[in-house]
Amino acid sequence: MSRWAYVNGRFVRHGDAAVHIEDRGYQLADGVYEVWAVFGGRLADAEGHFERLERSLGELKIAMPMSRRALQLVLGEAVRRNRLKDGLLYLQVTRGVARRDHAFPDPAPHPAMVVTAKPMDWAAAGVRAARGVSVITTPENRWGRCDIKTIGLLPNAMAKTAARDQGAAEAWFVDADGLVTEGASSNAWIVDAEGVLRTRDTSANILRGVTRKTVMGLLGETNIRLDERAFTPEEARNAREAFITGAGALILPVVAIDGAPIGTGKPGPVAQRLRALYIENAQALNIS
Ligand code: PDD
Repeated sequence: MSRWAYVNGRFVRHGDAAVHIEDRGYQLADGVYEVWAVFGGRLADAEGHFERLERSLGELKIAMPMSRRALQLVLGEAVRRNRLKDGLLYLQVTRGVARRDHAFPDPAPHPAMVVTAKPMDWAAAGVRAARGVSVITTPENRWGRCDIKTIGLLPNAMAKTAARDQGAAEAWFVDADGLVTEGASSNAWIVDAEGVLRTRDTSANILRGVTRKTVMGLLGETNIRLDERAFTPEEARNAREAFITGAGALILPVVAIDGAPIGTGKPGPVAQRLRALYIENAQALNIS
């Protein structure tokens, strides 16, 4: 089945999709992105990702390429054309095309926008979640605005490659104070030795994860106690359990850090419960 991409106003065959060589995203990583998980053809946490997209663009003084409503229609059409039931939708907005110069061009070009769709087998992802994954730690070396979901992802790509080379699924950045910030493409959580759920607060230099926020909203349905407080790799090693959250990972149990097992070395009950609740909620949306 052919894949379709949306590029600057048109749907084109994925293999033929292309942008201009002087797109500032291509030359300067001058752009932002969002990723939605799709369940049964519907976008999970749709509003949260739109809100963050608008915020990221605002922080970089890039105009919304179209209204939120029009964006929703384009994303819906991307789902339809790709016959996407379960998968991921990727949206990228860059400042647009301009002769190369570091400063933002004035007048501003029209922002460039690309959407792609990727099928995912959530059941197969569930098998991986039932086994759990490993993480490594790596020194934080990103810029000071990780709250903006920029396409400038080289430190993340390098960290993820280091993780893969060591047989791990994710890399957790550790800042100069010895505290975990977040993963290369996910937020980091532990259930500490006292049984308290911990994740870094968003005043730190991290992405305000949409999945993170939804998971926090789900805690009301449980008796899990939350403390938005940073933790060290040492605390993670001594934790009862750990997991990561993100649009791609959903809620994915972490069973080892830097080669040392966490808790029993198996996915923990809190991570499993939250994963089930999250998927249940996302699928419930699809019935309406
Ligand atoms: N990554 N932290 C970082 C650095 C991320 O890149 C992501 C998401 C998250 C989790 O955010 P959310 O829950 O809103 O997806 C945290 C996406 C999935 C990606 O880069 O593909």
